[in-house]
Amino acid sequence: MKIIGVETTCDETGIAVLEVDQKERFRILANEIASQYKVHQPFGGVVPILAAREHKKNLPILWSKVESIAKNADFIAFSYGAGLAPALIQGKEFVLKLAKKLKIKIVPVNHLAGHFYSFLLKNKLKKWQKLKEIEFPCLGLIISGGHTILYLFSDYYHKKKLGETLDDALGEAFDKVARMLGLSYPGGPWIEKLAKRGKPLFSLPKPVLNQGYKFSFAGLKTAVLEIVEDLKTFGKLNEDNIKNLASSFQKTCFEIIIQKLDKAMKEYQAKSIVVGGGVAANRTLKNWLENYFGKKIVYFPEKILATDNGLNIALAGYFKIKKLGKKALVKNFDIHPRLPW
Ligand code: KG4
Ligand code: ZN
Repeated sequence: MKIIGVETTCDETGIAVLEVDQKERFRILANEIASQYKVHQPFGGVVPILAAREHKKNLPILWSKVESIAKNADFIAFSYGAGLAPALIQGKEFVLKLAKKLKIKIVPVNHLAGHFYSFLLKNKLKKWQKLKEIEFPCLGLIISGGHTILYLFSDYYHKKKLGETLDDALGEAFDKVARMLGLSYPGGPWIEKLAKRGKPLFSLPKPVLNQGYKFSFAGLKTAVLEIVEDLKTFGKLNEDNIKNLASSFQKTCFEIIIQKLDKAMKEYQAKSIVVGGGVAANRTLKNWLENYFGKKIVYFPEKILATDNGLNIALAGYFKIKKLGKKALVKNFDIHPRLPW
């Protein structure tokens, strides 16, 4: 089975080709990504209309790179939500035309499913590989620019949402704090980098820490803003304080995450933890969780597969087909900017 995966929910255009054989071995045939961050950088965040323009331009370019590899593909998996409406519309138009041209059907998949399954494959081109094996029940933490949700999975197809953010997503908070500190978009990687060279000297609040599995990062972000403004007033927003603030902010966020995961591990006797979404690219978080919970039960995607890409979507398409069979396949569909998972 050969699956084409197309991703256009936000600011990365991705097209991948994934092959699966009878023995459930997987082979990544292509995973092309066109990142738009340079286009959005001057605005400090993603501008939906510019994202749509870039997807429209990049989709045919990426397709020309994978077209010969994608020959005889069986389905196209497309992340039809959640995401930015103008960006999704461009993806939808492209995918409908492509499906017609190739005479194959479409598997609409949830973007968050792509993030969840992203740890299962090694980013090795053209090598046959088996999916990683994990034990259930498993906690699934999705932390991206648009979502922060904790799930409990009893297997790959059954899950329960334990809690989510009441306001900002974790990646969004990283991006906003980075902006306050004068760092460019996307801010997550900058915060991680600077935090390594700083000390967590500032004490910051942990909103809703004791309220079950709810998350909240808006108050924490505002507390950073107040410190930044005070430092500016006294002419002390220097390099050292920027590094120390990055370190304090990141540490506070990760302590919140550990506390929530720890509670859920105990309450549900979970046997593994899977982390997905752009913030899962953060190797400091990976180290923290591995040190706290143990390397053997903590699963992160490789860095390149943590942020948006077509391979995650192709893999999510595979799981949907496995679960629903032909019912997963459609000729037409609508986009869902606020699609829940
Ligand atoms: O999953 P993703 O590519 O797009 C969405 O679905 O939102 O996630 C993008 C988010 C951005 O907020 C970005 O700052 C964050 O992931 N991110 C990071 C790191 N790399 C990307 N956050 C913290 N540390 C990182 N190393
Ligand atoms: Zn994403």
